[in-house]
Amino acid sequence: MNEQKKILFYEEGFFEKNIEEYDPILSSYLDEEKKRQQDQIEMIASENFVSKAVLQAQGSVLTNKYAEGYPGKRYYGGCDVVDKVENLAIDRARKLFDVKFVNVQPHSGAQANQAVFLALLKPGDTILGMSLDAGGHLTHGAKPNLSGKWFNSIQYGLNKSDSLINFNEVENLCKLHKPKIIIAGGSAYSRFIDFKRFRDISDKYNCLLLVDMAHFSGLVAGKVHPSPIPYADIVTTTTHKTLRSGRGGMIMTNNDELFKKINSAVFPGLQGGPLMHVIAGKAAGFGEALKDEFKNYTANIVKNAKALSNTLTQRGINIVSGGTDNHIVLVDLRNKGITGLICEEALERAGITCNKNGIPFDTTPPSITSGIRLGTSAATTRGLIEEDFIILGNLIADIISNFKDNIPDIKTERVVKSKIVNICKKYPIY
Ligand SMILES: Cc1ncc(COP(=O)(O)O)c(C=O)c1O
Repeated sequence: MNEQKKILFYEEGFFEKNIEEYDPILSSYLDEEKKRQQDQIEMIASENFVSKAVLQAQGSVLTNKYAEGYPGKRYYGGCDVVDKVENLAIDRARKLFDVKFVNVQPHSGAQANQAVFLALLKPGDTILGMSLDAGGHLTHGAKPNLSGKWFNSIQYGLNKSDSLINFNEVENLCKLHKPKIIIAGGSAYSRFIDFKRFRDISDKYNCLLLVDMAHFSGLVAGKVHPSPIPYADIVTTTTHKTLRSGRGGMIMTNNDELFKKINSAVFPGLQGGPLMHVIAGKAAGFGEALKDEFKNYTANIVKNAKALSNTLTQRGINIVSGGTDNHIVLVDLRNKGITGLICEEALERAGITCNKNGIPFDTTPPSITSGIRLGTSAATTRGLIEEDFIILGNLIADIISNFKDNIPDIKTERVVKSKIVNICKKYPIY
């Protein structure tokens, strides 16, 4: 017994020391990343900055807890507190989206969609989703994804004329293939989606309607975007994009039969223990999203996106669909003769982070693309307003317009970078 007492089971400071002292190498990487986030303008449309409260919830002791099952029906003891946390997240989400049933356990948006498929489909069933080049997501039936491998995946696209969803095609594909489920929503679609039209088609062809609002759920919560809840059988979302909460996924429905199937699909069908610290982060973010400030925030996200889109248009840069209704501005670079890849790299050197992105009817491979996707949610969280986005739009246009024969102009990049440094200093994070 005495011998055992002498052996240290962990390094001194295990329970007390901060990471700076306890693991300086890892700590230096965290600092480096914080500095990168501070010193660049984040325009990746799927990213955001969570509050310190969300960070604290996600970095809390709840990471230690196993809680397989659901509140009140767990397979482990000691779950009284995490039950309260999960119920808080659920109640806040129900209020936020005016929906009856919510599962907050999916570890990610991809897993939320997988759980829906597991609940409602058998391998080989037909699904209909928006194609990647039209702005859909991998998990909506793209070939390299499980959804495209295990199901008979049919994909719809956009009209050539206006880059809006081609509902004639959606309807024709339903007639021809009789999908069990239609998926609406995407990762690079910048316009409101006509949920009623999708509902009518789903009813006509007897399909279930899944809306994946991963990108715009924050805007729905802030009431600056139509809600899919009244129209869809099931709605999935990520919780960390415009919704600015703990990182993960969520599934919602007003149908109790479907909800039972979804719960069983999430656990024990697909996942083990829920990430209780992340669910706490979701609860924290949903609490913020219920406040009036979040409504102002989301209204500003959209205002800023429109300001950015108009500025780029005025500078002769083509925007897919001619503008935006949400936080996304999808830039078509074809008339500039440059690829998304080299544009993304040039912008990063100048201090602006975004991602190369396919545009409708893109003929270049996904690793190169003919476009970039810009998003305003992260920079709006920092406090940037329309006039800043007009400046940003002009800086982005300077970079794009000064390429010569596909070669970026280093001098322009340097000038832009110095201006970005000043904007970043004006709007500090954490
Ligand atoms: C529409 C849509 N669905 C699902 C996902 C997947 O979310 P996650 O990265 O959390 O798996 C994304 C992520 O970009 C998305 O845009």
